[in-house]
Amino acid sequence: MKTITVFKGDGIGPEITEAVLNILDAAKAPLEYEMFRVGAAEYEENGALIPDAAFASFEKNKVLLKSPITTPVGKGFRSLNVTLREKYDLYANIRPAKSNSAVKTPFQDIDIVTFRENTEDLYVGVEKQIDPDTVYATKIITRKASTRIITDAFEYARAQGRKKVTCVHKANILKQSDGLFLSIFQAIAQNYPDIEADDKIVDNVCMQLVMRPQQFDIMVMPNLYGDIVSDLTSGLIGGLGLLPSSNLGKDYAMFEAVHGSAPDIAGKNIANPTALLWSACMMLEHLGEMEIARTIRRAVDQVLAEGSCKTPDLGGQATTSKYCEAIIARL
Ligand code: NAI
Repeated sequence: MKTITVFKGDGIGPEITEAVLNILDAAKAPLEYEMFRVGAAEYEENGALIPDAAFASFEKNKVLLKSPITTPVGKGFRSLNVTLREKYDLYANIRPAKSNSAVKTPFQDIDIVTFRENTEDLYVGVEKQIDPDTVYATKIITRKASTRIITDAFEYARAQGRKKVTCVHKANILKQSDGLFLSIFQAIAQNYPDIEADDKIVDNVCMQLVMRPQQFDIMVMPNLYGDIVSDLTSGLIGGLGLLPSSNLGKDYAMFEAVHGSAPDIAGKNIANPTALLWSACMMLEHLGEMEIARTIRRAVDQVLAEGSCKTPDLGGQATTSKYCEAIIARL
Protein backbone atom coordinates (compact mmCIF):
# COMPACT_ATOMS: atom_id res chain seq x y z
CA MET A 1 0.00 0.00 0.00
CA LYS A 2 1.17 3.48 -0.84
CA THR A 3 -0.16 6.48 1.06
CA ILE A 4 -0.93 9.58 -0.97
CA THR A 5 -2.16 13.03 0.01
CA VAL A 6 -5.50 14.24 -1.35
CA PHE A 7 -6.71 17.87 -1.41
CA LYS A 8 -10.46 18.15 -1.87
CA GLY A 9 -10.55 21.79 -3.05
CA ASP A 10 -13.47 24.11 -3.77
CA GLY A 11 -16.57 24.17 -5.97
CA ILE A 12 -16.91 20.85 -7.78
CA GLY A 13 -13.70 19.66 -6.08
CA PRO A 14 -15.27 17.56 -3.30
CA GLU A 15 -17.77 15.90 -5.71
CA ILE A 16 -15.23 14.86 -8.31
CA THR A 17 -12.73 13.78 -5.65
CA GLU A 18 -15.30 11.45 -4.12
CA ALA A 19 -16.15 10.02 -7.55
CA VAL A 20 -12.50 9.41 -8.39
CA LEU A 21 -11.62 7.80 -5.06
CA ASN A 22 -14.63 5.48 -5.40
CA ILE A 23 -13.35 4.38 -8.81
CA LEU A 24 -9.77 3.94 -7.55
CA ASP A 25 -11.06 1.79 -4.68
CA ALA A 26 -13.26 -0.27 -7.00
CA ALA A 27 -10.23 -0.81 -9.27
CA LYS A 28 -8.33 -2.06 -6.20
CA ALA A 29 -5.62 0.59 -6.50
CA PRO A 30 -3.21 -0.19 -3.65
CA LEU A 31 -3.58 3.29 -2.15
CA GLU A 32 -4.40 4.82 1.18
CA TYR A 33 -5.41 8.45 1.44
CA GLU A 34 -4.69 11.35 3.75
CA MET A 35 -7.45 13.81 2.89
CA PHE A 36 -7.49 17.53 3.49
CA ARG A 37 -9.84 20.35 2.72
CA VAL A 38 -7.83 23.22 1.24
CA GLY A 39 -8.68 26.44 -0.57
CA ALA A 40 -11.18 29.26 -0.25
CA ALA A 41 -13.61 27.42 2.06
CA GLU A 42 -10.80 26.40 4.41
CA TYR A 43 -9.43 29.96 4.34
CA GLU A 44 -12.76 31.51 5.29
CA GLU A 45 -13.21 29.14 8.24
CA ASN A 46 -9.70 28.70 9.60
CA GLY A 47 -7.67 31.54 8.07
CA ALA A 48 -5.22 29.28 6.22
CA LEU A 49 -5.56 28.10 2.64
CA ILE A 50 -3.63 24.94 3.35
CA PRO A 51 -3.54 23.62 6.90
CA ASP A 52 -0.01 22.87 8.16
CA ALA A 53 -0.95 19.20 8.46
CA ALA A 54 -1.74 19.11 4.73
CA PHE A 55 1.68 20.49 3.81
CA ALA A 56 3.28 17.98 6.19
CA SER A 57 1.35 15.11 4.63
CA PHE A 58 2.48 16.02 1.10
CA GLU A 59 6.07 16.41 2.30
CA LYS A 60 5.91 12.92 3.79
CA ASN A 61 4.04 11.15 0.97
CA LYS A 62 5.57 13.10 -1.96
CA VAL A 63 2.51 12.39 -4.12
CA LEU A 64 -0.57 14.61 -4.18
CA LEU A 65 -3.91 14.22 -5.94
CA LYS A 66 -5.38 17.69 -5.95
CA SER A 67 -8.77 18.95 -7.00
CA PRO A 68 -9.38 22.54 -8.14
CA ILE A 69 -9.25 25.55 -5.89
CA THR A 70 -11.00 28.89 -6.28
CA THR A 71 -8.69 31.89 -6.67
CA PRO A 72 -10.22 35.38 -6.33
CA VAL A 73 -9.69 37.53 -9.43
CA GLY A 74 -7.81 40.82 -9.05
CA LYS A 75 -7.73 40.71 -5.23
CA GLY A 76 -7.35 38.44 -2.22
CA PHE A 77 -4.86 35.64 -1.70
CA ARG A 78 -2.30 34.49 -4.23
CA SER A 79 -3.16 31.41 -6.28
CA LEU A 80 -2.63 28.33 -4.18
CA ASN A 81 -1.70 26.40 -7.30
CA VAL A 82 1.12 28.81 -8.06
CA THR A 83 2.24 28.60 -4.42
CA LEU A 84 2.33 24.78 -4.47
CA ARG A 85 4.21 24.66 -7.77
CA GLU A 86 6.81 27.07 -6.47
CA LYS A 87 7.17 25.68 -2.94
CA TYR A 88 7.75 22.13 -4.16
CA ASP A 89 9.49 23.11 -7.39
CA LEU A 90 6.92 21.26 -9.50
CA TYR A 91 8.47 22.66 -12.63
CA ALA A 92 7.05 20.39 -15.34
CA ASN A 93 3.35 20.73 -16.06
CA ILE A 94 2.45 17.99 -18.52
CA ARG A 95 -0.97 18.10 -20.17
CA PRO A 96 -1.90 15.37 -22.65
CA ALA A 97 -4.85 16.13 -24.96
CA LYS A 98 -5.96 13.09 -26.95
CA SER A 99 -9.10 12.67 -29.07
CA ASN A 100 -11.56 10.08 -27.89
CA SER A 101 -13.61 8.68 -30.76
CA ALA A 102 -16.69 8.59 -28.52
CA VAL A 103 -16.57 12.33 -27.90
CA LYS A 104 -17.62 14.15 -31.04
CA THR A 105 -15.85 17.43 -31.76
CA PRO A 106 -15.03 19.18 -35.06
CA PHE A 107 -11.47 17.83 -34.65
CA GLN A 108 -10.23 14.25 -35.01
CA ASP A 109 -6.98 12.41 -34.33
CA ILE A 110 -5.54 14.88 -31.89
CA ASP A 111 -2.71 13.65 -29.72
CA ILE A 112 -0.86 16.64 -28.32
CA VAL A 113 1.15 16.81 -25.09
CA THR A 114 1.85 20.29 -23.72
CA PHE A 115 4.94 20.78 -21.56
CA ARG A 116 4.36 24.00 -19.65
CA GLU A 117 7.16 25.52 -17.56
CA ASN A 118 5.52 25.89 -14.18
CA THR A 119 7.67 28.06 -11.92
CA GLU A 120 8.50 31.36 -13.59
CA ASP A 121 7.51 33.70 -16.44
CA LEU A 122 4.80 36.23 -15.51
CA TYR A 123 3.48 33.78 -12.90
CA VAL A 124 6.12 34.82 -10.37
CA GLY A 125 3.40 37.39 -9.59
CA VAL A 126 5.76 40.36 -9.17
CA GLU A 127 3.66 43.41 -9.95
CA LYS A 128 4.50 46.98 -9.07
CA GLN A 129 2.30 50.02 -9.18
CA ILE A 130 4.38 52.82 -10.64
CA ASP A 131 1.66 55.46 -10.37
CA PRO A 132 -2.15 55.22 -10.14
CA ASP A 133 -2.38 54.61 -13.89
CA THR A 134 0.62 52.34 -14.45
CA VAL A 135 1.47 48.84 -13.28
CA TYR A 136 4.54 46.84 -14.23
CA ALA A 137 4.58 43.02 -14.14
CA THR A 138 7.83 41.07 -14.18
CA LYS A 139 8.43 38.22 -16.62
CA ILE A 140 11.27 35.93 -15.59
CA ILE A 141 12.90 33.37 -17.88
CA THR A 142 16.02 31.58 -16.65
CA ARG A 143 18.44 29.20 -18.31
CA LYS A 144 18.02 26.69 -15.47
CA ALA A 145 14.22 26.46 -15.61
CA SER A 146 14.08 26.54 -19.40
CA THR A 147 16.75 23.86 -19.76
CA ARG A 148 15.01 21.35 -17.51
CA ILE A 149 11.52 21.67 -19.03
CA ILE A 150 12.84 21.56 -22.60
CA THR A 151 15.05 18.57 -21.80
CA ASP A 152 12.07 16.79 -20.19
CA ALA A 153 9.99 17.41 -23.33
CA PHE A 154 12.64 15.83 -25.58
CA GLU A 155 13.23 12.93 -23.17
CA TYR A 156 9.48 12.27 -23.03
CA ALA A 157 9.30 12.38 -26.84
CA ARG A 158 12.08 9.83 -27.09
CA ALA A 159 10.71 7.55 -24.36
CA GLN A 160 7.20 7.59 -25.84
CA GLY A 161 8.34 7.18 -29.45
CA ARG A 162 6.97 10.58 -30.45
CA LYS A 163 8.15 12.37 -33.58
CA LYS A 164 8.31 16.10 -33.01
CA VAL A 165 8.79 18.80 -30.36
CA THR A 166 7.56 22.33 -31.09
CA CYS A 167 8.80 25.31 -29.08
CA VAL A 168 6.06 27.92 -28.62
CA HIS A 169 7.24 31.49 -27.96
CA LYS A 170 6.95 35.18 -28.80
CA ALA A 171 10.63 35.82 -29.39
CA ASN A 172 9.90 38.20 -32.26
CA ILE A 173 8.68 40.73 -29.66
CA LEU A 174 10.20 39.48 -26.38
CA LYS A 175 13.61 39.12 -27.95
CA GLN A 176 15.55 38.64 -24.74
CA SER A 177 13.26 36.60 -22.47
CA ASP A 178 11.51 34.35 -25.00
CA GLY A 179 14.66 34.70 -27.10
CA LEU A 180 16.58 32.94 -24.32
CA PHE A 181 13.95 30.17 -24.09
CA LEU A 182 14.11 29.65 -27.87
CA SER A 183 17.92 29.63 -28.04
CA ILE A 184 18.06 27.01 -25.27
CA PHE A 185 15.48 24.95 -27.17
CA GLN A 186 17.56 25.11 -30.35
CA ALA A 187 20.72 24.07 -28.50
CA ILE A 188 19.04 21.13 -26.71
CA ALA A 189 17.38 19.97 -29.93
CA GLN A 190 20.87 19.27 -31.33
CA ASN A 191 21.18 16.43 -28.79
CA TYR A 192 18.06 14.73 -30.20
CA PRO A 193 18.69 14.26 -33.92
CA ASP A 194 16.08 11.47 -33.93
CA ILE A 195 13.30 13.93 -33.05
CA GLU A 196 12.10 16.71 -35.31
CA ALA A 197 12.32 20.13 -33.65
CA ASP A 198 10.57 23.27 -34.79
CA ASP A 199 9.36 26.51 -33.29
CA LYS A 200 6.32 28.70 -33.78
CA ILE A 201 5.11 32.04 -32.47
CA VAL A 202 2.29 31.63 -29.97
CA ASP A 203 -0.38 33.56 -31.87
CA ASN A 204 0.28 31.50 -34.99
CA VAL A 205 0.13 28.33 -32.86
CA CYS A 206 -3.38 29.25 -31.67
CA MET A 207 -4.54 29.70 -35.25
CA GLN A 208 -2.80 26.51 -36.46
CA LEU A 209 -4.28 24.53 -33.54
CA VAL A 210 -7.74 25.38 -34.81
CA MET A 211 -6.94 24.97 -38.53
CA ARG A 212 -4.75 21.85 -38.49
CA PRO A 213 -4.14 20.56 -34.96
CA GLN A 214 -2.86 17.16 -36.16
CA GLN A 215 0.48 18.76 -37.09
CA PHE A 216 1.36 19.11 -33.38
CA ASP A 217 2.89 16.36 -31.27
CA ILE A 218 4.80 17.59 -28.20
CA MET A 219 4.76 21.33 -27.46
CA VAL A 220 7.01 23.06 -24.92
CA MET A 221 6.59 26.63 -23.77
CA PRO A 222 6.89 29.16 -20.94
CA ASN A 223 4.26 29.31 -18.22
CA LEU A 224 1.67 31.80 -19.49
CA TYR A 225 1.45 30.43 -23.04
CA GLY A 226 1.26 26.92 -21.59
CA ASP A 227 -1.70 27.88 -19.43
CA ILE A 228 -3.63 29.36 -22.34
CA VAL A 229 -2.63 26.99 -25.14
CA SER A 230 -3.39 23.86 -23.08
CA ASP A 231 -6.94 25.12 -22.39
CA LEU A 232 -7.25 25.52 -26.16
CA THR A 233 -6.13 21.91 -26.66
CA SER A 234 -8.77 20.80 -24.14
CA GLY A 235 -11.40 22.52 -26.29
CA LEU A 236 -10.19 20.51 -29.30
CA ILE A 237 -10.86 17.19 -27.58
CA GLY A 238 -14.21 18.04 -26.02
CA GLY A 239 -13.65 20.45 -23.15
CA LEU A 240 -12.02 21.00 -19.83
CA GLY A 241 -13.72 18.00 -18.27
CA LEU A 242 -11.33 15.78 -20.24
CA LEU A 243 -7.87 17.31 -19.74
CA PRO A 244 -5.64 15.80 -17.00
CA SER A 245 -2.22 16.97 -15.88
CA SER A 246 0.81 16.09 -13.87
CA ASN A 247 3.04 18.62 -12.12
CA LEU A 248 6.41 17.01 -11.61
CA GLY A 249 9.54 18.08 -9.79
CA LYS A 250 12.65 16.26 -8.68
CA ASP A 251 11.20 15.22 -5.31
CA TYR A 252 7.45 15.76 -5.51
CA ALA A 253 4.58 15.00 -7.87
CA MET A 254 1.14 16.56 -7.98
CA PHE A 255 -1.71 15.39 -10.21
CA GLU A 256 -4.75 17.53 -11.00
CA ALA A 257 -7.38 18.28 -13.62
CA VAL A 258 -6.59 21.31 -15.75
CA HIS A 259 -10.00 22.86 -15.11
CA GLY A 260 -10.98 25.10 -12.20
CA SER A 261 -13.55 24.79 -9.44
CA ALA A 262 -16.47 25.45 -11.86
CA PRO A 263 -18.61 27.38 -9.34
CA ASP A 264 -21.43 27.59 -11.92
CA ILE A 265 -22.14 23.85 -11.60
CA ALA A 266 -20.86 23.14 -8.07
CA GLY A 267 -23.08 21.06 -5.79
CA LYS A 268 -25.32 19.89 -8.67
CA ASN A 269 -23.78 16.42 -9.13
CA ILE A 270 -23.25 17.06 -12.86
CA ALA A 271 -19.50 17.76 -13.03
CA ASN A 272 -17.44 15.52 -15.27
CA PRO A 273 -14.84 13.75 -13.10
CA THR A 274 -12.89 12.35 -16.09
CA ALA A 275 -10.07 14.93 -16.09
CA LEU A 276 -9.35 14.24 -12.42
CA LEU A 277 -9.73 10.50 -13.00
CA TRP A 278 -7.24 10.57 -15.86
CA SER A 279 -4.93 12.65 -13.66
CA ALA A 280 -5.25 9.84 -11.11
CA CYS A 281 -4.31 7.39 -13.89
CA MET A 282 -1.17 9.46 -14.58
CA MET A 283 -0.49 9.21 -10.85
CA LEU A 284 -0.92 5.43 -10.91
CA GLU A 285 1.53 5.24 -13.83
CA HIS A 286 3.96 7.44 -11.90
CA LEU A 287 3.67 4.93 -9.03
CA GLY A 288 4.28 2.01 -11.39
CA GLU A 289 0.67 0.75 -11.30
CA MET A 290 0.38 0.56 -15.09
CA GLU A 291 -2.18 -2.25 -15.24
CA ILE A 292 -4.67 -0.58 -12.90
CA ALA A 293 -4.35 2.67 -14.84
CA ARG A 294 -4.98 0.78 -18.08
CA THR A 295 -8.04 -0.95 -16.62
CA ILE A 296 -9.55 2.36 -15.52
CA ARG A 297 -8.82 4.06 -18.85
CA ARG A 298 -10.42 1.13 -20.69
CA ALA A 299 -13.55 1.31 -18.51
CA VAL A 300 -13.90 5.06 -19.18
CA ASP A 301 -13.49 4.49 -22.94
CA GLN A 302 -16.17 1.81 -22.85
CA VAL A 303 -18.64 4.03 -20.99
CA LEU A 304 -18.02 6.96 -23.34
CA ALA A 305 -18.26 4.72 -26.41
CA GLU A 306 -21.48 3.13 -25.23
CA GLY A 307 -22.82 6.69 -25.10
CA SER A 308 -25.86 6.54 -22.82
CA CYS A 309 -24.09 7.70 -19.68
CA LYS A 310 -22.33 11.00 -20.39
CA THR A 311 -22.26 14.09 -18.21
CA PRO A 312 -23.94 17.27 -19.56
CA ASP A 313 -20.67 18.90 -20.68
CA LEU A 314 -20.35 16.02 -23.19
CA GLY A 315 -23.95 16.34 -24.33
CA GLY A 316 -25.41 13.70 -22.00
CA GLN A 317 -27.71 13.78 -18.99
CA ALA A 318 -25.90 11.56 -16.51
CA THR A 319 -25.06 12.74 -13.02
CA THR A 320 -21.51 12.50 -11.73
CA SER A 321 -22.53 9.56 -9.54
CA LYS A 322 -24.28 7.65 -12.34
CA TYR A 323 -21.27 8.10 -14.63
CA CYS A 324 -19.01 6.93 -11.84
CA GLU A 325 -21.21 3.84 -11.23
CA ALA A 326 -21.12 3.02 -14.95
CA ILE A 327 -17.31 3.10 -14.93
CA ILE A 328 -17.16 0.93 -11.82
CA ALA A 329 -19.52 -1.58 -13.43
CA ARG A 330 -17.05 -2.03 -16.31
CA LEU A 331 -13.87 -2.38 -14.28
P1 NAI B 1 -13.35 26.54 -14.74
O1 NAI B 1 -12.38 25.62 -15.37
O2 NAI B 1 -13.68 26.31 -13.32
O3 NAI B 1 -14.72 26.54 -15.58
C1 NAI B 1 -14.80 26.95 -16.94
C2 NAI B 1 -16.08 26.34 -17.56
O4 NAI B 1 -15.86 24.93 -17.75
C3 NAI B 1 -17.30 26.48 -16.68
O5 NAI B 1 -18.42 26.67 -17.48
C4 NAI B 1 -17.39 25.13 -15.97
O6 NAI B 1 -18.70 24.75 -15.60
C5 NAI B 1 -16.82 24.17 -17.03
N1 NAI B 1 -16.14 23.04 -16.40
C6 NAI B 1 -14.92 23.06 -15.80
N2 NAI B 1 -14.63 21.86 -15.31
C7 NAI B 1 -15.69 21.06 -15.60
C8 NAI B 1 -15.98 19.68 -15.33
N3 NAI B 1 -15.13 18.88 -14.67
N4 NAI B 1 -17.17 19.19 -15.76
C9 NAI B 1 -18.03 19.97 -16.44
N5 NAI B 1 -17.80 21.27 -16.73
C10 NAI B 1 -16.65 21.81 -16.30
O7 NAI B 1 -12.75 28.01 -14.96
P2 NAI B 1 -13.19 29.40 -14.30
O8 NAI B 1 -14.67 29.48 -14.20
O9 NAI B 1 -12.45 30.41 -15.07
O10 NAI B 1 -12.56 29.37 -12.84
C11 NAI B 1 -13.28 29.06 -11.64
C12 NAI B 1 -12.32 29.11 -10.49
O11 NAI B 1 -11.37 28.05 -10.58
C13 NAI B 1 -11.50 30.40 -10.39
O12 NAI B 1 -11.44 30.78 -9.03
C14 NAI B 1 -10.12 29.99 -10.88
O13 NAI B 1 -9.09 30.77 -10.33
C15 NAI B 1 -10.04 28.56 -10.40
N6 NAI B 1 -9.11 27.72 -11.15
C16 NAI B 1 -8.43 26.78 -10.43
C17 NAI B 1 -7.60 25.90 -11.06
C18 NAI B 1 -6.92 24.87 -10.23
O14 NAI B 1 -7.17 24.77 -9.05
N7 NAI B 1 -6.05 24.08 -10.81
C19 NAI B 1 -7.38 25.96 -12.52
C20 NAI B 1 -8.19 26.94 -13.19
C21 NAI B 1 -9.01 27.81 -12.51
